[in-house]
Amino acid sequence: MATDVANDVRRGALPRHVAIIMDGNGRWARAQARPRSVGHTAGVEALREIVHGAVDLDLEYLTFFGFSTENWKRPAEEVSFLMGLLRRYLKREVAGLHERGVRLRFIGARARFDSDIRALIDGAEALTAENGGLNVTIALNYGGREEIVLAAQRLAAAVAAGELSVEEIDESRFQAALFTCDLPAPDLLIRTSGEQRLSNFLLWQSAYTEFVFTDVLWPDFGRAELAAALEDYQARDRRFGTVG
Ligand code: IPE
Ligand code: IPE
Ligand code: MG
Repeated sequence: MATDVANDVRRGALPRHVAIIMDGNGRWARAQARPRSVGHTAGVEALREIVHGAVDLDLEYLTFFGFSTENWKRPAEEVSFLMGLLRRYLKREVAGLHERGVRLRFIGARARFDSDIRALIDGAEALTAENGGLNVTIALNYGGREEIVLAAQRLAAAVAAGELSVEEIDESRFQAALFTCDLPAPDLLIRTSGEQRLSNFLLWQSAYTEFVFTDVLWPDFGRAELAAALEDYQARDRRFGTVG
């Protein structure tokens, strides 16, 4: 069954860029009467499986929401568990991703992370910078509103420095000032766990993105669920404001 779906997906046009809001780790753990941390650990396994599944499907861009600017408001114990998980993920996974030709990028403001995490992030980007395979982007301390404010500040600074005129600020210059300057807009955004909101993810970039919401909790999201979301996308009619 899962293989049939994967074959159908391969035959159709794949979205160039898939973005994923990985949600529901806590509820997954609660359903088993386990602590939330168990759900986050299982969530990392799902992330690994989806990245490898996307490489196998020859997807071009895959972007994950890993930690939002608002997630710092969680209990300190949970935030510190997530930071430990991030450290372990970067230490364990980057070499294997590099071997598979994955290029890793991180979006979000890095200054708030501990220096060892910043070094791991910078190292992963540098190691994989020349890779031509799947482009994986992980959003960490990312907020869409903050990204837009930072872009406005950058452009204003360039105007103040006399490097840019106000009239020269257009959509393409704005896009170039975002964290996602190197990425195409997402064609498909998947959110797990039944929530139907953006939660401050890719606000500018999702202007014409197709959305797929699934009740599956992130730790249960695997290759078959990815293939089903891609199939759903393939049945959509994207008009971009024109007459279809
Ligand atoms: C997603 O799962 C992981 C992060 C936001 C870091 P949650 O932790 O949000 O899980 P729920 O939504 O509470 O079930
Ligand atoms: C969004 O999920 C952030 C990530 C998946 C990293 P949340 O669980 O934080 O979002 P809300 O609070 O339900 O909107
Ligand atoms: Mg959540």
